[in-house]
Amino acid sequence: MEKKYIAQWSCPSNIALVKYWGKLPNQIPMNPSLSLTLKNSVTTTTVSAQNLNAPFELNYLFHGEHNAAFSKRIQSVLETWQEHFPFLKNGQWRIESENSFPHSAGIASSASAMGALALSLCSIEHEILGTLNTSESFQRKASYLARLASGSAARSIYPGIVSWGTSELVENSSDEYATPLSIDVHPSVLHLNDAILIVDDQPKKVSSSAGHQLMNNHPYRNNRIEQANNNHKSIIECLTSGDFQQFSTIVENEAMSIHSLMMSSTPWYSLLHANTFEIINRIQYFRAQNNIPVCFTLDAGPNVHVIYPPNVKQQVESFIQTELKPFFKKYQPDEMGNGPEQLK
Ligand code: DP6
Repeated sequence: MEKKYIAQWSCPSNIALVKYWGKLPNQIPMNPSLSLTLKNSVTTTTVSAQNLNAPFELNYLFHGEHNAAFSKRIQSVLETWQEHFPFLKNGQWRIESENSFPHSAGIASSASAMGALALSLCSIEHEILGTLNTSESFQRKASYLARLASGSAARSIYPGIVSWGTSELVENSSDEYATPLSIDVHPSVLHLNDAILIVDDQPKKVSSSAGHQLMNNHPYRNNRIEQANNNHKSIIECLTSGDFQQFSTIVENEAMSIHSLMMSSTPWYSLLHANTFEIINRIQYFRAQNNIPVCFTLDAGPNVHVIYPPNVKQQVESFIQTELKPFFKKYQPDEMGNGPEQLK
């Protein structure tokens, strides 16, 4: 009987503190970025393959159901990956995927989805060809391939604080794959929480890919690249020293900068809502009044990520419940996690 290959991985999403915004051909980022790999927001993907000599066939299921749009995207990712996984040109493939967070909750799912898919295919490669023997080579290939599918997914392959993009400050850094940060992070910022406040759960009106493209001829392109490099350097210094005040300044500057870049693109657009502003203004005021280490970041959407260290959890949670609740629809508590997990 034909051998059947099977692999299953769960891979978390990540939230960027220094943002990847703008890319060169082949998914090369215009600037280095840095993120926290999350714990609760994960995609679990099972890949099985058989009859590897038969013509290529894909059966894709999302939460147990056929989904034409997702299936098309996966098919095109697999085509891009054929060059790196020769066995992907043929065979009968079944891919099943599910998210731990509600679908269309407004949480970026491409990072976790493409991370889980890349890891599963690396496992299949290892099973078929016996390659990728070290965890280093395995993770590097998974990160490289995840990047080709969705840039930010490159960072989800590693736990903790992860950098992607060439930087003098990060050992083994590359534009082609992410690298876990090897510095001694100050204990006060070693484990950060991310309370995700879903302001709007509708699909975005402009995709991140379209947003990246608008950076190609953006009048502030060079300044943005310089700003991101400076912020990347400074945030690494803050993570080493534990200076949360400076950390907040950088993280919020990054969030507002990418949204300003969207607003100053041609054509311009904005993904922010009145409630996003209400929430971020209240966070600023709460921090100033109470001297509590808490700040916010935004991904390419209206939802707010409230970032804080564990020692102020109670105060921040109670602030969210009492003062922010009217302005968001759903709440997804998350925190830094231990990275992807192989289940099969
Ligand atoms: C604002 O990784 O979603 O979240 O490479 O086109 O798939 P593609 O874009 P994507 O962009 C993420 C943009 C961001 C910032 C970040 O995660 O660094």
